Amino acid sequence: KLMELDSMKSEFLGIVSHDFRSPLSSIILAGKSLLKNEAIQDQPRIKEYLHIIVDQANRLNQLAEDTLSITKLESGQLSYYFKIINVERLIQDAVSMVKFSSRHTFEYSVHPDVAFIKGDQTKLRQVVQNLISNAVKYSPKGGKVTVNVSLDESDQILFSVSDQGMGVPPDQIGRLFQKFSRVDNEQSRGIKGAGLGLWICREVVEAHGGKIWLESELNKGTTVKFTIRRSR
Ligand SMILES: Nc1ncnc2c1ncn2[C@@H]1O[C@H](COP(=O)(O)OP(=O)(O)O)[C@@H](O)[C@H]1O
Ligand SMILES: [Mg+2]
Repeated sequence: KLMELDSMKSEFLGIVSHDFRSPLSSIILAGKSLLKNEAIQDQPRIKEYLHIIVDQANRLNQLAEDTLSITKLESGQLSYYFKIINVERLIQDAVSMVKFSSRHTFEYSVHPDVAFIKGDQTKLRQVVQNLISNAVKYSPKGGKVTVNVSLDESDQILFSVSDQGMGVPPDQIGRLFQKFSRVDNEQSRGIKGAGLGLWICREVVEAHGGKIWLESELNKGTTVKFTIRRSR
């Protein structure tokens, strides 16, 4: 009985979060087009409100996307569609989904040998987006967020996302990739989150034959790195 209820709950959450996303995408798209409209360029108040609309719709969209992944993960239904991905475009897409809210600068570089890789585009974009949104969330305004993609010494594709933020205490790094796991300290207490992002990232990365880990120095910054197996 309980198991039946649980699977009904998962199914329901799956449908709801999926159906949330298309109206949200329309709101985001409409908001972004308005922001580019010439008529409002000298209307700071209107621009500010539009930014809020786009930002919050983006947040809801990411939440819906994460919820969908989690319900699918839990029911073993997360399926992957591997195809050739344009890495630079992937990063640009991920950045554009967090950029509005952040007063951060973004830099990225992609080694020519890994300009195109094989993987699940939507899910890898979700991983990079989750990491960038953490970088933004846990570092002060005006900070720099850097994304690099290269090859490591054993010929795996290596992604890294760095920030100049508060960092993670060394003794807590190990558990952050578990479900609902968050650092609880003075600095991060006011920052909201469910502690699910890194868990989803790990699942997706492992499904690509890779590993994910975090390197950090307190009050200096954090770099999250992950690898993807190179298939040819
Ligand atoms: N770039 C980062 N800088 C500092 N702490 C981080 C960073 N990324 C993740 N963390 C820590 O790891 C925890 C887990 O991250 P995540 O799973 O994305 O959950 P959430 O962002 O919802 O809190 C965060 O709560 C935070 O304490
Ligand atoms: Mg997060």
